[in-house]
Amino acid sequence: MKKKLLALSLALAFTSTSAILHAEGTIRAGKEKAAACISCHGDNGNSLVSTFPKLAEQHSSYLIKQLQAFKTGARKNPMMSAIAMGLSDADMVDIAAYYAAQKVSANELPILDDDEDEKPATTDAEKKTNDKDPLQAIIAQGSDLYRNGDLSREVSACIACHGPFGEGNKPAAFPALKSQHADYLIKTLTDFKTDARSNNPENMMHMIAKKMTDEEIKAVSYRISMMK
Ligand code: HEC
Ligand code: HEC
Repeated sequence: MKKKLLALSLALAFTSTSAILHAEGTIRAGKEKAAACISCHGDNGNSLVSTFPKLAEQHSSYLIKQLQAFKTGARKNPMMSAIAMGLSDADMVDIAAYYAAQKVSANELPILDDDEDEKPATTDAEKKTNDKDPLQAIIAQGSDLYRNGDLSREVSACIACHGPFGEGNKPAAFPALKSQHADYLIKTLTDFKTDARSNNPENMMHMIAKKMTDEEIKAVSYRISMMK
């Protein structure tokens, strides 16, 4: 039994080293193949449009999984499905290696919508709190949810899978979230909530997002968009 386990772990060690070597060898090819993605995902995978996700510094395992899902239609997006249809498995590996090796860019502070502006402040003290409070309060709420979840409502802490810095988990293909656009995060969390996006393992993100209010989704998205 012990011998069998040893053989298995050796085999695993070899597969992962060769996978790493392979991935490193394809970054250059990936850069060329990613030329078709620049118009939406930006130079180096740092998209400038807030509803188009950044791909820079994302785990290759996760990127490949999503491209395959767009290709088979398991994840639905007409634009991305058409594009993924034209990619071979080797293209996906190359492109994913390229994006995983890029640095994700930081975001500006989110801007609150007009309808969230509080009543005009009257006293100086009120003015002062209003100046910094509303956005900071939302980000603090998001930070609390990210770290601690909400036990009473069975919302799991995001930190458990996405890491203290939003760095995700490469072997598990848990995506990195740090510095992703808030607008995309809100959109995709809402898609998990409504089950429009349902290709995730055991639907775990659906189970989490369906218990979150729209306000919580926004708060945690703002917080994550500020993680570096
Ligand atoms: C016409 C615009 C457009 C082009 C061109 C495009 N994408 Fe996308 N891509 C999108 C949009 C929009 C989404 C978000 C889909 C959603 O909301 O589910 C997306 C999502 C993705 C995702 C999922 C990211 C995540 O965090 O889950 C990957 C991976 C991706 N694109 C890779 C590519 C690659 C590789 C190319 C080039 C071969 C490419 N895209 C070209 C618009 C585009
Ligand atoms: C049990 C592990 C787990 C926990 C806890 C978890 N996630 Fe996830 N999350 C995942 C997995 C796995 C995926 C990838 C789903 C897929 O393959 O489509 C994911 C995907 C996501 C995505 C999509 C990223 C992208 O680029 O499209 C967002 C956003 C996200 N999670 C946010 C959160 C937030 C916010 C929380 C906390 C409220 C949270 N997650 C808690 C496992 C988890």
